[in-house]
Amino acid sequence: MTAPLDAAAVTRGLRPLRIPSRLVCLAQTPSTNDACLERAKAGEPEGFTVTAEAQTAGRGRFGRAWHSPPGLGLAVSVLLRPALPAERLSLLTAAAAVAAAETCGPDARIRWPNDAVVRDRKIAGVLVEGRPSTRSARSGETEPGAFVLGCGLNVNLRPGDFPDDLRAASTSLLIERGVPQDRNAVLRAFLEHLDRRYDEALSGDPALPRAWRDLSALVGRRVAISEGGRDYRGEVVDLDVLEGISLRLDGAIRRFRLEHVERLRLA
Ligand code: BTN
Repeated sequence: MTAPLDAAAVTRGLRPLRIPSRLVCLAQTPSTNDACLERAKAGEPEGFTVTAEAQTAGRGRFGRAWHSPPGLGLAVSVLLRPALPAERLSLLTAAAAVAAAETCGPDARIRWPNDAVVRDRKIAGVLVEGRPSTRSARSGETEPGAFVLGCGLNVNLRPGDFPDDLRAASTSLLIERGVPQDRNAVLRAFLEHLDRRYDEALSGDPALPRAWRDLSALVGRRVAISEGGRDYRGEVVDLDVLEGISLRLDGAIRRFRLEHVERLRLA
């Protein structure tokens, strides 16, 4: 185990940021997303961030488990209260995926929609949970949504630290760089990238969708998409986090909304 997570070490000298407005480092918790959601219900302001040395019930997308062995990885959750309409919420996932890939260095790419991979092996995953903004029928006022953006990043795991069934498809910063990494520095880098990309999501800056598209590296590649129980194979002609993915299928171009795509893989 390298140096323990330490809130003061992560935030020292950091200019005041929206993320993290406050950082709490726990020894162990079932899931940092749950710890953060509880604080959201208690009225914690945006930017509240929780990390933990170990999670005992970390979870990923589609109910999968996220493996967080003590002291080796990074499990972090950030509370967001974005004033974004429902059709722009995919920008939150994009901001997290881009920030995770940027934290992992220039060889990292995004594997659709929000894994960070190096050499096609998973190095980080993102899980965004929460509720969108609501409009009161009585007062007409809009209450911003509350979301928890969780990221798990494999920092100092060695091949033997991964479960057998995930080992071949996983990697870590230690495996890629050959030496253990300072988790406080990795966490600080992630939070700085996320703060910038989240600002872009809120302001509608096209730099964020552009970075997500470029890091996804799918344009021009052949993919197989499952949607509504059917499979489609074709070349990706365009990819946009808000508009969807366009495939050339036997001459015709068809667009798929990202939220309707059940599965996407290289074909
Ligand atoms: C995935 O790959 O499907 C997403 C994995 C997300 C894991 C992170 S670790 C921090 C936060 N707490 C959780 O329980 N899950 C997320």
